[in-house]
Amino acid sequence: MTTIGELALDRPLLLAPMEDVSDQPFRLMCRRLGADVVYTEFVSSEGLIRDVRVCLEKLRLADGERPVGIQIYGAQPDVMVEAARIAEQAGPELIDINVGCPTKSVATCSGAGAGLLRDPERMAAIVERVVHAVDLPVTVKTRLGWDHDSIRIVENARLFERLGARALTVHGRTRAQQRKGEADWQWIRRAKEAVSIPVFGNGDVKDAESAIRMFEEFGVDGVMIGRGAVANPWIFQQAKAYRETGQVPEIGPEEKLASCLTHLELSIEYKGLPRGVIEFRKHYKGYLRDLPLASAVRSELMAMTEPGPVFDRIDAYASELGVSVGAF
Ligand SMILES: Cc1cc2nc3c(=O)[nH]c(=O)nc-3n(C[C@H](O)[C@H](O)[C@H](O)COP(=O)(O)O)c2cc1C
Repeated sequence: MTTIGELALDRPLLLAPMEDVSDQPFRLMCRRLGADVVYTEFVSSEGLIRDVRVCLEKLRLADGERPVGIQIYGAQPDVMVEAARIAEQAGPELIDINVGCPTKSVATCSGAGAGLLRDPERMAAIVERVVHAVDLPVTVKTRLGWDHDSIRIVENARLFERLGARALTVHGRTRAQQRKGEADWQWIRRAKEAVSIPVFGNGDVKDAESAIRMFEEFGVDGVMIGRGAVANPWIFQQAKAYRETGQVPEIGPEEKLASCLTHLELSIEYKGLPRGVIEFRKHYKGYLRDLPLASAVRSELMAMTEPGPVFDRIDAYASELGVSVGAF
């Protein structure tokens, strides 16, 4: 059993923080479909302390998604402390510090995210001060290092543990790799072996088999999944079934379409119209995956902005496939 504060987790599968993807509707769906812990997308500490509406909106949590972690990012220790306190008021189970975002605007220009890897003193100050500023357990998500020649994940894992981080997620890439190349799980194992806090492995878990392989061959305490969950939101429950039975259950068309409708309803409820429909477009591919004529149907759905036609088209598609869809 892995414990983080009051959370007791049995070989947890975690939904990764993903900007514009890990919003409340998707987090709720992933929890229903087997994720044990979900994280919000990263939230700007500067935006939080300035009451920026879009940042505060990202702190809205629903009971059905718990346990949930709010991830914050920034380069200024004072600002991160204040932002962590604001995030804590939103009532998550965890606060996560982003030490991995590779983008130019975050990492290079402002020195936040993976940029902290090049400024160890600042990185340590942020983690230490945030840990002491809030009562909630603080976790850190990071990368192997800035580039191939400066991989310091083992040293950093020990540092984060010493500073009071309660768990660590390691994405097995450097900042220079962005999201290209392959995640190196050997480094994740080395980080795990170096500390006694829980270490979650992340990067390139694409299906149930790879999730379980990361547990069994690399010794991690948990597996965090990002793109694999967008491509297949059932990955969490499939991985659990695979662990128990050695078989990966197939998801039938009825469940795929019913889940698609449920998620769309949540998206509309949370975001209103037309945003709830437009921002849902990135999920059609995952829900229609492997269904007959999926790409043609998806192209039609992608052009729609009103909910009525989307619901009608999915209903008609269900009839074409000979299934009936109720709410999931
Ligand atoms: C669209 C997108 C947005 C992301 N946004 C964040 C973020 O806000 N915070 C973060 O720590 N990582 C972010 N990531 C990185 C993921 O959390 C994860 O570390 C990475 O995608 C590797 O895992 P995967 O192969 O399972 O996707 C993002 C990744 C993607 C694809």
